[in-house]
Amino acid sequence: MLNFVLVAGSSRNNSQSGKVARFMRQRLIELGHSSEDLCTVLDLGQAPLPLWPSTDNGPWAQYAVRLQAADAVVILAPEWNGMACPAIKNFFVYASKTELAHKPGLLVGVSSGIGGGYPISELRASSYKNCRLCYIPEQLIVRNVEQQLNQPIASEVDDQRLRARIDYALDVLQKYSAALKPLRTSIDLSLPEFANGM
Ligand SMILES: Cc1cc2nc3c(=O)[nH]c(=O)nc-3n(C[C@H](O)[C@H](O)[C@H](O)COP(=O)(O)O)c2cc1C
Repeated sequence: MLNFVLVAGSSRNNSQSGKVARFMRQRLIELGHSSEDLCTVLDLGQAPLPLWPSTDNGPWAQYAVRLQAADAVVILAPEWNGMACPAIKNFFVYASKTELAHKPGLLVGVSSGIGGGYPISELRASSYKNCRLCYIPEQLIVRNVEQQLNQPIASEVDDQRLRARIDYALDVLQKYSAALKPLRTSIDLSLPEFANGM
């Protein structure tokens, strides 16, 4: 059993990104990759991190504990004005290599329309340099999100295909998680001259 953290990166309470995160958490448990205890959603809309820097870091201390225990993370980034939403960028100002270094990360772009690609390319270009999160090549884009992953299960082909692709991506992620676990113990993260990435 592996430990997963899913970060729902919208600052909106009751966001669609949160909905997708909770759906994916349930699938990780149903597929036998994780368990109720070992699989957590950090919803940046429901328990927001204050804009960094802040005298009060909000729920960050609890988030950091969860992230440090994680074998893999799922980053769900809604597309806002063709960008990753500010809440998920702010999350990456808080997050460091202590929490994320050399852990596999699955990116999920979320859009109510036919977008969702921009936040993925933005986070692949930045976000990982200092924290050393390893984005895996597999990625997900949830388009027309309000019509997807609801109950009762829709008969639409798009919803069925998305569910199958989510299961596939989570299977790949858990394989990376198992493979990278021993690697982390063999990398020295304490060297002060290489504290930040280039
Ligand atoms: C300020 C704002 C800007 C948005 N801009 C885009 C956009 O550029 N492209 C897009 O596909 N969807 C855009 N959307 C719609 C989101 O994709 C939609 O709200 C979706 O549910 C994901 O966001 P959520 O997780 O906050 O619900 C925008 C939404 C907001 C609130």
